Amino acid sequence: MSSQQHSLQPFNTFNLDVSAQNIVIATTAEALSAAWQESQRQQRPALLIGEGSNILFLKDFNGTAIVNRIKGITVKESAEAWHLHVGAGENWHQLVQYTLENALPGLENMAMIPGCTGSAPIQNIGAYGVELKNVCEYVDILHLSDGQVSRLSAQDCQFGYRDSIFKHQYQCGYAIIAVGLILQKQWSPVITYGDLSRLSSATVTPQQIFDSVCAMRSSKLPNPAETGNAGSFFKNPVIAAEQAAAIAADWPDMPRYPQADGSVKLAAGWLIDRCDLKGYTVGGAAVHQHQALVLINKDRATSDDIVALAHEVRQRVGQKFNVWLEPEVRFIGAEGEQDAVGVIA
Ligand code: FAD
Ligand code: EPU
Repeated sequence: MSSQQHSLQPFNTFNLDVSAQNIVIATTAEALSAAWQESQRQQRPALLIGEGSNILFLKDFNGTAIVNRIKGITVKESAEAWHLHVGAGENWHQLVQYTLENALPGLENMAMIPGCTGSAPIQNIGAYGVELKNVCEYVDILHLSDGQVSRLSAQDCQFGYRDSIFKHQYQCGYAIIAVGLILQKQWSPVITYGDLSRLSSATVTPQQIFDSVCAMRSSKLPNPAETGNAGSFFKNPVIAAEQAAAIAADWPDMPRYPQADGSVKLAAGWLIDRCDLKGYTVGGAAVHQHQALVLINKDRATSDDIVALAHEVRQRVGQKFNVWLEPEVRFIGAEGEQDAVGVIA
């Protein structure tokens, strides 16, 4: 087959023109396991992909890309909650829509997050005041070497800000094949973030929150179908309270989010914006005009353009604030994942 037939362009929302040696669309755990074992047999790397919305390919991938398309949603009811068992290949936003159409509220704040449900636990997706960990009951993982399946409770997953056990102990050799969600029947709206605070807790409906989140997101974030991007390129940095106070002495309007452990989370987009980098361009890559935390494929960008832009952004923010940003996006080289900070440092 020609490399055209193995294009990864439809499988990365940066819309980069990269390819893999082979692409397997897996609709069952058995197919996923078989594809992984075949790549092991050939001594070639394998890469699991959902919708490629949190991936930056640095080069063509020298192995098999295994695309998870395990489908299915089942709903069970207990006295207090709805329990959803969702195939890892279900699209997350469509799941959110499905729950609202079926009067199962609780996911509305996380509307319009691209990607698959099975990818959601990996970085503990979150938006507008709610994270996956708030609704996750369990995650089913496939041990790729022997096809065994085991279930991790939400507690086992060690969810943190953009973090979980799937970036550590269960990063290699495992695939997420299903996610269990628990949606409390006693719905309580989360309307603390941004424009949501304009809504009234007495009268607000899940649909209104969904609509408001969709409107806010559409005004700030580029649609990957039109402009390649992977959402926030960097994580919001979490720094010591003393350092945050020192920066705030010079920048009193700086957004600060105190954390339970005494550290302080800053808004990376604000830091980049203060460096006057909105619209800044390297080759075909640019800092998004409406949200400085998003790097875009403005005009046929190459991976190198995006890496060079990310390097420049990190340097400028580091030199101005002594805060050194770390990518949220996962960097994939020819043989597999690479250390993203190392690549852009
Ligand atoms: P991919 O990019 O395909 O994969 C991500 C990583 O997971 C890769 O390392 C991959 O190898 C691994 N992986 C994929 N599938 C599996 C599997 N089944 N088992 C094990 N490992 C696997 N994120 C947020 O948290 N909040 C937001 O508000 C948000 N907004 C975004 C807005 C835009 C416009 C975009 C483009 C992205 C945004 N993101 C956001 C990031 C992205 O949506 C999430 O990280 C999402 O969960 C990625 O899903 P995916 O299926 O595309 O994963
Ligand atoms: N800001 C600026 N200039 C900018 C961008 C932001 O001044 O160019 C300021 C905003 O005014 C606001 C603050 O920075 O005071 C935070 O901005 P925003 O509300 O847009 O959120 P964010 O911190 O940039 C995070 C997540 C998003 C998530 C939103 C909403 C991370 C890395 N990003 O963005 O997640 O959708 O909050 O909850 O945590 C993603 O992970 O890909 C992603 C898009």
